[in-house]
Amino acid sequence: MTENNVLVQVLCLRKYFPLGGGLFGGKTGLVKAVDGISFEIRRGETLGLVGESGCGKSTTGRAILQLHKPTSGQVFFEDTDLTRLSAEELRRLRPKMQMIFQDPYASLNPRHSVGKIVGEPLVIHKVMRKGSQELEDRVAELLELVGMDPSYVRRFPHEFSGGQRQRIGIARALSLNPSFIVCDEPISALDVSIQAQVVNLMQDLQQQLGLTYLLIAHDLSMVKHVSHRIAVMYLGKIMELADRNALFDNPLHPYTQSLNSAVPLPVPRLERQRRRFILKGDPPSPAFPPSGCVFHTRCPLAIEKCVAVEPEPSDPYPGHTVVCHLADQSGRSKIPELGGRAEK
Ligand SMILES: Nc1ncnc2c1ncn2[C@@H]1O[C@H](COP(=O)(O)OP(=O)(O)OP(=O)(O)O)[C@@H](O)[C@H]1O
Ligand code: SF4
Ligand SMILES: [Mg+2]
Repeated sequence: MTENNVLVQVLCLRKYFPLGGGLFGGKTGLVKAVDGISFEIRRGETLGLVGESGCGKSTTGRAILQLHKPTSGQVFFEDTDLTRLSAEELRRLRPKMQMIFQDPYASLNPRHSVGKIVGEPLVIHKVMRKGSQELEDRVAELLELVGMDPSYVRRFPHEFSGGQRQRIGIARALSLNPSFIVCDEPISALDVSIQAQVVNLMQDLQQQLGLTYLLIAHDLSMVKHVSHRIAVMYLGKIMELADRNALFDNPLHPYTQSLNSAVPLPVPRLERQRRRFILKGDPPSPAFPPSGCVFHTRCPLAIEKCVAVEPEPSDPYPGHTVVCHLADQSGRSKIPELGGRAEK
């Protein structure tokens, strides 16, 4: 099903959660956390997935890994449709697909030593025996791989800084030799001063081990320098997906343009000229998404058609997909206030 250079293919994936009756004035229904998204992740690349809080990024990552059972749609990993696998078949494939979490404090068991945390997946998956020399050697190797002293095996998570704990989490995720890792906001809980170190480590590991990443983040500035391609998500849907440079130099979706206008520019002269466009209001609830284009309630360019008709994905440029009635090569979908910058 997947082409050779594609590792993961997501087809019309949906994940709806039942709406708690106590919330939303007792209304019942469904939270459309992920609502019909399709994209592919190529071998060895980092695909950034960006959008505001609650837009469905984590649910997407979890539904791809089948940690949330999708409501509908397919997820191909190499040639296997993960959504059709039995629990046992999934368990056998699980080592190849791992997740790194946002919070290195919450994701490590405080009562377990570093050695136990890092080696545990190998024991659970019966790759190595508990207490064996082989396991000890592998744990030491993994700690070295993430830049930590192997003598730390007997220490506990509270003895380490946030950055070191995230390294421990990464070592654990690597223990079973995965080829695909969902990185869910891996640095957003860390001190700004150490964020770059963890990002550099992840990039080095990608090169060294040929890893493929889905990198989830709130804002474009985090994924800007490390993603090969970027997908922008809003209210359960992908709004735009393009190569990193195309997305920054020529964002076609008004939502991407707004997010992009918030990213500081490294050159002081350009930064002084940077124009911002701040969207009004908050995103609507995914339990009650707007009709037509789900972005129409906040879009500065919305026309009558946007309220009634949901736009289809189009590719105004090769490999640059956008979901907007106005998006084409004429620049109709550019926010006037951002004018020159978006047209750059
Ligand atoms: N287990 C669940 N049960 C019910 N609703 C859920 C569940 N998990 C997520 N949701 C809802 O689905 C929507 C998407 O949540 P999700 O956590 O995927 O967003 P996110 O983009 O990762 O947000 P954040 O940036 O804050 O991490 C939200 O409205 C959330 O409340
Ligand atoms: S389809 Fe309409 S509402 Fe949606 S982004 Fe495009 S112009 Fe805005
Ligand atoms: Mg999340």
